[in-house]
Amino acid sequence: MATLALNGGKAAREKPFVGWPVFDEAEEEVLLKVLRSGKWWRFAFGQGVELTEPEEGEHSQVALFQKEFAEYHECKYGIAGANGTGTLEIGIRAMDLGIGDEIIVPAYTYVASATCVLQNNLVPIFVDVDPDTYNIDPDRIEEAITDRTRAIMVVHFGGQPVDMDRITAIAARHGLAVIEDAAHAHGCEWKGKKAGSMSLFSSFSFQAAKNMTAGEGGILLTDDEAFAAECDSMVWSGRRIGRPWYEFHRLGWNYRMTEFQGAILRVQLSRLEEQILHRELLGDYLSTLLGEIDGVSPLVRDERTTRHGYHIYMFRYDESSVGVPKQKFIDALEAEGVPGFGGYTFPLYRNPMFGNKKFINGGFPLGTEYHEDIDYALFAAKCPVSERACNTEAVWLPQNIFLGSTEDMDDVAEAIKKVLDNRNEL
Ligand SMILES: Cc1ncc(COP(=O)(O)O)c(C=O)c1O
Repeated sequence: MATLALNGGKAAREKPFVGWPVFDEAEEEVLLKVLRSGKWWRFAFGQGVELTEPEEGEHSQVALFQKEFAEYHECKYGIAGANGTGTLEIGIRAMDLGIGDEIIVPAYTYVASATCVLQNNLVPIFVDVDPDTYNIDPDRIEEAITDRTRAIMVVHFGGQPVDMDRITAIAARHGLAVIEDAAHAHGCEWKGKKAGSMSLFSSFSFQAAKNMTAGEGGILLTDDEAFAAECDSMVWSGRRIGRPWYEFHRLGWNYRMTEFQGAILRVQLSRLEEQILHRELLGDYLSTLLGEIDGVSPLVRDERTTRHGYHIYMFRYDESSVGVPKQKFIDALEAEGVPGFGGYTFPLYRNPMFGNKKFINGGFPLGTEYHEDIDYALFAAKCPVSERACNTEAVWLPQNIFLGSTEDMDDVAEAIKKVLDNRNEL
């Protein structure tokens, strides 16, 4: 039996994995071009911003990126923003819902999936996730629908699309909108259809860890022209295309993306297809290897997922059968040279803000005439899968290690096996 690296033994993996972000002279070149042009923001190209059909030449990089990213994702309109939190927020604002209306969100997700709801004076209602995919569980959605529910937000978690057949059918039955938080799902597909193209609007993130990045950034996609125009206006402080610069038509924000971000993202987009195929190959290969190791199991890839982005590769650790706390296992794995991570430390509703209700003007709209107060602690009993995933089960691996070789995956599986074989040392 080998000694664990945590206890001074030789690590299973000593070489570094592929790093992130991936970039080369192409990014350097476009960045310099923007720099030297002196046109660092979209306004430098005039007050009107093309929603469609910008042409090459002296054009805004952001406008070109919007068009290219939307086209790649089979959507008509793209509205770029400063980050994915912002594009989620303005999309919901453009729905013009009533104060205290409810939006269903998964319990296992990043905070932005719920804050975009609260920032619009709406109420997030959490629904548990599926134990096989960690995506929102369609079997648990209908019990959460009330007469105030207006939309179901899905998150294509880790890059595996949600079962959009079920979601679309539930939404249609109850007259609800669907929103896709596609922050993890660049280029992913459900039954050959691009994630982000199957709802009223979707929102992507280009934050530093994402599968395409400019450090920060976001984009909203939609097929609805009037909706796109509203969102475009809100990103631009409430201005309207074709109207004078000092005319503000609705409450807006400055959530604009810079030309530097737009230029980098166009290059990142050109690499997406190749990278996604690479990650997919290695992610699937690792799942085969992990399927043969007792004590861990890969998440299930739905056979209708035609493109899995593996933005976060997740596997399930069986803490009770192994008999070692999840964090201890992860520490040992890290010492072996594999960057495991426990992910969310608790489901979203357990965060302090859902206890102290420091929303807008206090707990608004909860506990007012618009909506009765909600005790978010009660969601714990309704979301056992999210609780388990956070506490004992989910282990995450970052997307960049899936840009390497099958030998890298052999090393990951070997390291996991080594830790499990030597669990008595922990
Ligand atoms: C599921 C999910 N939604 C939304 C966001 C927000 O994106 P951003 O960080 O660009 O604001 C993230 C970012 O981590 C995310 O993971």
